[in-house]
Amino acid sequence: MAITESTWTPSSWRELPAGQQPEWPDPAALAAVRERLRGLPPLVFAGEARALLAALGEVCEGRAFLLQAGDCVESFRDVSAPAIREKLKVLLQMSAVLTYGATLPVVKVGRIAGQFAKPRSERTEVVDGIELLSFRGHVVHSDEPTPEARVPDPERLVQGYYQAASTLNLLRAFTKGGFADLTLVHTWNREFVAASPAGQRYEALASEIGRALRFMEAIGIDLAREPTLHEVDVWTSHEGLLLEYEEALTRTDSLTGQPYDCSAHMLWIGERTRDLAEAHVEFFFGVLNPIGVKLGPAATPEDAVALGERLNPHRVPGRLTFIARMGAERVRETLPPLLEAVRDAEIPVVWACDPMHANLVRMPTGTKTRRFDSIMTELQGFFAAHREVGTWPGGVHIEFTGEDVTECLGGSEAVLEEQLDHRYETLCDPRLNGRQSLDLAFRVAELMRAV
Ligand code: PEP
Ligand code: CO
Repeated sequence: MAITESTWTPSSWRELPAGQQPEWPDPAALAAVRERLRGLPPLVFAGEARALLAALGEVCEGRAFLLQAGDCVESFRDVSAPAIREKLKVLLQMSAVLTYGATLPVVKVGRIAGQFAKPRSERTEVVDGIELLSFRGHVVHSDEPTPEARVPDPERLVQGYYQAASTLNLLRAFTKGGFADLTLVHTWNREFVAASPAGQRYEALASEIGRALRFMEAIGIDLAREPTLHEVDVWTSHEGLLLEYEEALTRTDSLTGQPYDCSAHMLWIGERTRDLAEAHVEFFFGVLNPIGVKLGPAATPEDAVALGERLNPHRVPGRLTFIARMGAERVRETLPPLLEAVRDAEIPVVWACDPMHANLVRMPTGTKTRRFDSIMTELQGFFAAHREVGTWPGGVHIEFTGEDVTECLGGSEAVLEEQLDHRYETLCDPRLNGRQSLDLAFRVAELMRAV
């Protein structure tokens, strides 16, 4: 029997099949970890999740744009101040480009401070001739290619909680403590980015923003007293994959008496776990955070409407974001029927484009990569589909890093095939580097201006 709002509890998902869960070897150890996590403070406050819901409501109604971006999977080895700062700089740069280019507010959501777990298509992988459990993220096990290292260890759930807490702490400090001040817009451009065409274009834009600020000052606006110039909201999100963890971080909000998953502001359900009859949809049905759902090329209009009815029965703008990841070749044919069906069912959703996950290619060497051109083709197709149907292209969802990596091919200062192995560092999917991300932002701003 389907769980209803009155029968839902944080653990009612256990009655249903849950896909993509690690094979935890010791149930007693897992139960002990769950109890410890239950006793720890929430990472975010329900009131913040409501503020993000309101901001996404603006996106839903065509008055703002969503930028959701960050790592494919965060590494436990890489929770350092520079790594967090560099990611934030790229996010702020992209957001400045989009805000200025499209003259719309940009809602900034990181794939950060908890993006530690991965779904995998195959249960096992073969490395150097040894068959191992596929790597599912540091919150489950180590990436070392040995059978022992790949045994899921529930202690890592606790470690994930603390890593998320320290990342979030620094993110809050940077975004509220002066680093994200718009008057510092020039300083977010890093050397390896600044020299590129996108970096130079950014310099020019930063100068224009500077002039606009000086103009406001000249006509008597006291910029020091405008909090929106000096602080930004960067919200956190991750794929809500490990239901043991999400359940343990779910708390009843003392103000409203409603359940919120306090591991992040926004959680999304992946392409592989969005089955209506399974545990993930049931779990996220019951929490009041903004929720995302990935929709791949196999999603039918009926699937989209049924997910919309289930996850947003009260039709709250901002509650539900559909993150379409159709593939450059398929987006023009697969997306419009979904847009039409959801519009006709009168379910308010934010439509975001993930141009990364259906555009993965494997090189003859075995390296996984993505072509910047395919990413742009999918984005263009996403905007064209919305233009055709008359719906709002609400946002983009991308995987990037602040570092000068060579994981995706192309861009205006192109990464070439023979350069792929120079700095290929990702633990999972290939990410855009800082330059490519900025390049993408300029091109998306142009697409937005044409809406
Ligand atoms: C991801 O966002 O990293 C991911 C695995 O996506 P999807 O569920 O769309 O495959
Ligand atoms: Co990914």
